[in-house]
Parts: sequence; structure tokens; C-alpha cells
Amino acid sequence: MITQPKIFGLIGKSISSSLSPVIFAYLFKKYKIKAEYHLFPLENNQLESALQGMRVLGISGINVTAPYKEEVTKFLDGLDGLAKEIGAVNLICNQNGKLKGFNTDWIGIKRTLQERLQLEESPEKIILIGAGGAARACLRAFKFFQPSQILIFNRSVEKAKTLAGSADSRTRVEVAELQKVERYIKENGISLVINATSGKHPIIKRGLLQALTKQAKVFDLNYNLDSVVNVRFRKQYSDGLYMLVCQAVETFRIWFQIEADPETLYRYLIRKRPS
Ligand SMILES: NC(=O)c1ccc[n+]([C@@H]2O[C@H](COP(=O)([O-])OP(=O)(O)OC[C@H]3O[C@@H](n4cnc5c(N)ncnc54)[C@H](OP(=O)(O)O)[C@@H]3O)[C@@H](O)[C@H]2O)c1
Repeated sequence: MITQPKIFGLIGKSISSSLSPVIFAYLFKKYKIKAEYHLFPLENNQLESALQGMRVLGISGINVTAPYKEEVTKFLDGLDGLAKEIGAVNLICNQNGKLKGFNTDWIGIKRTLQERLQLEESPEKIILIGAGGAARACLRAFKFFQPSQILIFNRSVEKAKTLAGSADSRTRVEVAELQKVERYIKENGISLVINATSGKHPIIKRGLLQALTKQAKVFDLNYNLDSVVNVRFRKQYSDGLYMLVCQAVETFRIWFQIEADPETLYRYLIRKRPS
């Protein structure tokens, strides 16, 4: 009997330059797994029917990216505890036709802050730019570091206020409009700036970086924008590539119970990503 390869993939908007197919092709080959990983770009009104298709066609697992990480939660049959707490899903497992949502983004964020940026515990002030699904995962990762204060800057202040409500009650949280972020950074000592927006133009611009002290760290979750980081900031800055790797390694562990090494995969992707 010929066994069909298992099907996995990514749903989201504007996903043609995603590195996820490269990551999973590497992992499937390395661990000799008969599986395929496809990109499934979706328009807003297609989300529910796409998930129904996943159930009916027996697609084994799906990653979810912007802008569907929050909306997708309402169409699933169940949520893992952390996905429920965060309120966003970036991974779905098809368990005999029942779709269960997980969140592995927060692990990618925590590991980047620890392993690439060496962020110490109890930082003073963290600036979080964005209030979507990835920003929700940031708040969960911050719990681990216990900052004194978090300031959320977002285009829609209402959304930032909703997000602020889910922060750790031990941390002081304030919200403000996105336009005020650069001035705020210039006038205040900041431990970490983290960009979790999906706009096409870089939020972390030269002016913003110049305003930072040498102690401040910068993490942009995006990994395919033109880099604005010059030599002075190399040690203070991380883009989203290592996060992408760590969330994928955790996804792979949930799908196949195999622990892959993020460092080898990261070095492979550095060579593969378009310069
Ligand atoms: N490296 C990784 O592994 C990784 C993992 C997860 C996410 N990400 C990246 O993180 C980003 C956010 O993802 P998400 O899932 O949180 O998306 P999302 O839920 O759609 O949220 C998008 C966020 O970006 C803001 N935004 C969108 N367009 C903007 C613009 N033109 N100017 C200013 N703000 C804008 C939105 O503000 P409003 O609320 O005002 O609309 C919102 O805060 C994406 O680019 C995604 O690729 C990377």
C-alpha cells in the first residue's frame, strides 16, 4: 500500500516570502519524515471555510500568521491552556477531525530575549509596539522577566487598552498612540523596545535607534524588512529570525515529539534567506 505524505502548512495574508516552508522541508528531510508543507494564503472571509477544509481533508497541522492569530480562536474545537491565556493561536493540530489551537510564539520571544539579547530579569521599562496576536504572545513572555513597567504603543489605542487588560497584574501598564513612541524613547530610559506590528514600513527606524542608550535592547519580530541596524547596534538588536526558528522547533516538537536544535537551523536559514 502506498502511504500518502502528511500535509502541513501556513495560513495568513501576504505569506509568499515566508521562510516556514524552508524550515519544515529541512526538518522533514533531516528526520526522514514523509510530509509536505504548503503556503495557504487566505482572504478575511475564507478563514472559517479553510478550517472546515482542514478537518474534512485531514490536513495534519497548520501554522497561523497575521492577521488571523486572534480571530482563528473562535473557529477551533479547543485551545491549549497557554493559547487560551494568551488569546492567540499560531499552531493548529488536527486530532481526528477536531482542531486544537496552541501558541508557540511566546516561547520564540522568550528565547530571543534570553539567548540573543541576554535580557536580564526585572527590567525597568519595556516598550511594546503593536497590539495584535504577536503582541499578546510578547506579554506572556514578559511575565517571565517581570518588568516594572510596560508601555504599549499602537495605531489603534482602543486595541492597546484591551491588550493592557491581559498583562500581569504585578506590572504597571500604560498605553499611547503610535506617533508618540519616538519622542517617548528620547525622553525616557528604556530597557527594551519590541516591535510587533505588521506594517510594511519599518517601525524601528534609524532615529529611534539613535535615541536609545547603550544598555537598551531592540527586538523587531519581523525578519524580512530592510535592516536599518548599523554596526553600533548589532549587539543590542535582534530581528525575528531566531524567534521564527524557536517557535518552529516547538511546533515540530508538538507535531512529532522530536526536539530539534534551533542553533543549527538558525545558521542554515541565515545562509538560505534572501540578502
Ligand atoms: N518572527 C516570528 O516568528 C514572528 C512570529 C509572529 C509574528 N511575527 C510578525 O509580527 C507581526 C505582527 O503579527 P500579528 O500576528 O500580531 O499581526 P496582527 O494580529 O494582524 O496585528 C498587527 C499589528 O500591526 C499593527 N499594524 C498593522 N499595519 C500597520 C501600519 N501600517 N502601521 C502601524 N501599525 C500597523 C496593528 O495595529 P492596529 O491594531 O492599529 O491595526 C497591530 O498592532 C507580523 O509582521 C508577523 O509576521 C513574526
